[in-house]
Amino acid sequence: MGTPQPGIFAVGTYSQLYLELDLAPGSKPGALARAVADLREPRTTMAGVNLVTGFRPELWRGLLPNGLPATTTGFNRDLVGPDGYRMPGTQHDLVLWFSGSSFDGVFDEARLSVRGLASVAKVADETPGWPYHHDRDLTGFIDGTENPTLIEAPSVALVPDGQPGAGGSILLLQRWVHASDAWEALPVAEQEKVIGRTKPDSIEFDPKPSDSHAARTDQDVFGKVFRRNIPYGDVHDHGTMFVGFCAEQQPLARMLDSMAGIPDGVRDALTRYSRPLTGSYYFVPSVEALRQFASPSAD
Ligand code: HEM
Repeated sequence: MGTPQPGIFAVGTYSQLYLELDLAPGSKPGALARAVADLREPRTTMAGVNLVTGFRPELWRGLLPNGLPATTTGFNRDLVGPDGYRMPGTQHDLVLWFSGSSFDGVFDEARLSVRGLASVAKVADETPGWPYHHDRDLTGFIDGTENPTLIEAPSVALVPDGQPGAGGSILLLQRWVHASDAWEALPVAEQEKVIGRTKPDSIEFDPKPSDSHAARTDQDVFGKVFRRNIPYGDVHDHGTMFVGFCAEQQPLARMLDSMAGIPDGVRDALTRYSRPLTGSYYFVPSVEALRQFASPSAD
């Protein structure tokens, strides 16, 4: 199998930054892939910064027709539920995800990368992220309880050996703004029904309310995904950067349909307190797949 980009699994990073970029007018996808493959972070084991790069699925397919799972597509149109609830598709060409132990390194590396890509890509969206009370999202609930362990995560997140795009991963990236005042006005017992878990210790309800978030995204129904969600924002405008990796697109897409109530008219209760502002799918190729685009001089 190709070597996965290691940052996908680099947990415990306290400073993160997501940049989504578009091809500069007149630039070619091949030039973009070369510039991305040529990015060089001065990695050190003490204060290195992880960089994960992903491409719009159609762009990557244009470069390598057999380079990713065949049916993978971008988030090319809004997803609208039966009651009109909307998840916007705001697809861009490239994502760069920086993560590290402190923001100074992340900031420096991001600026260097943007400079390295300046002739081929322009930043369209920028979201810094930071952990909240160790492992909680801004609802105050523990986020990631049902994630696979790091031992299991590669088999969940990576395209298996022998398949197109082996060692790569499909990433769903969505920035969700929280209606914090409305959420915090709910008694904790009501918040727990929305999530389908207890707030202090994330114990799953049995049975889970049918419109609870845990029920609408139940991995026993839709398949497993590996989430790297991170809080973002300022005092007025804040929420969750949903970051989900999977070996195939379908589980992620079906979870979104389910949250919007598309299969059965039942909308995820969490969507009454949060709404997505962005939505993109990216293909995160293996290290080897990306490296083949590097300039001959780059090592
Ligand atoms: C505002 C956005 C979101 C917030 C605050 C949020 C928060 C949470 C929380 C607190 C849990 C329970 C603990 C856990 O198992 O991690 C959870 C579970 C989960 N969420 Fe989300 N989530 C959000 C969006 C999404 C989206 C967009 C997806 C999928 C596309 C998703 C997929 C899942 C999955 C798969 C689980 C575990 C379900 C299970 O098998 O029990 N979440 N989320």
